[in-house]
Amino acid sequence: MKTATLSPFAKAVLDGMQKIPKQIPSLYFYDEAGSQLFEQIMQLPEYYLTNAEKSILQNQSNEILSAWQGSNHISEKLQIIELGAGNGEKTIFLLKSALSLFPAHQLEFIPIDISQAALEKLSHTCWQHFPQLSLNPVQGDYWEVLEDFSHHAEGTKKLVLFLGSNIGNMTWTESIAFYKKLFSFLKTGDAVLTGFDLKKDIHLLIPAYNDSSGVTREFNLNLLRRMNRELGATFALEKWDHYPIYNPVKGAMESYLISKEKQTVVFKNLNCDFHFEIAEPILTEVSFKYSFSQINDLAKNSGFALIENFTDAKQYFVDSLWVKS
Ligand code: AVJ
Repeated sequence: MKTATLSPFAKAVLDGMQKIPKQIPSLYFYDEAGSQLFEQIMQLPEYYLTNAEKSILQNQSNEILSAWQGSNHISEKLQIIELGAGNGEKTIFLLKSALSLFPAHQLEFIPIDISQAALEKLSHTCWQHFPQLSLNPVQGDYWEVLEDFSHHAEGTKKLVLFLGSNIGNMTWTESIAFYKKLFSFLKTGDAVLTGFDLKKDIHLLIPAYNDSSGVTREFNLNLLRRMNRELGATFALEKWDHYPIYNPVKGAMESYLISKEKQTVVFKNLNCDFHFEIAEPILTEVSFKYSFSQINDLAKNSGFALIENFTDAKQYFVDSLWVKS
């Protein structure tokens, strides 16, 4: 089978099914159904991350912008670039503060997301709240799209937003590489604001990834549906369990799909099949949790200066402001 003609998803699955343990990159959760399920996850009472970060941005957006202001000339144009913007619900608060500091014509919002549907929803919300804002949504994988923003327009400052614990899906090595790349695209005075989920009581962590209404279970199982639909696979969903655990050594939530029985799944479009033993896992996601000292180390190791950490009242979550100095 010529792999050159395969979709990125097909290639990733073919590759991941040959690893030990079998695995699928979590990026592929977000087809249309998956993106919708993630929207539902963000509204779950157990999924504390969204409300924690929302409260940070709701209460401290002015502080965040003025903490950065030190190295920033107000006469310049400001570009707010959001990686993995989703529905932008939390970003609204930051945009509101930015619009109180900058005249609308000096402010540009560039949300980047893999889901076109999410971007359309976000654009709609933005126009409703801020009709005067210049809005340039970009659909794509932010690892790739980022490069298009490396051109340094004169007199433009960039604030890159990487919210919602999206960073959690990267390993330490990937994170360093990611921020170094980001660093190289920015100029002195530009900033990045990252949302980190803090290490906490496992009795809060585990339900966040195993909610009582079963939405996260559906989110995980949707990968099987996606393989059936896009790769002609024959997964029977009732033969799989959703199994999230906290790995305290890694400091990460890990989500698995576990085969309830010995089975063979045919992938018609890939001309191949894969075998699963009883209780064999497919690793579908790793969500790293951070300590303050790890956040410090990450900033330092990738060249950024940590300006300030903004946390919610319960200390569940941090939005950490870094600048290229
Ligand atoms: C979108 C990566 C931040 O890891 O918490 C939510 C995805 N997975 N529930 C996370 C997710 C299961 C989420 N991120």
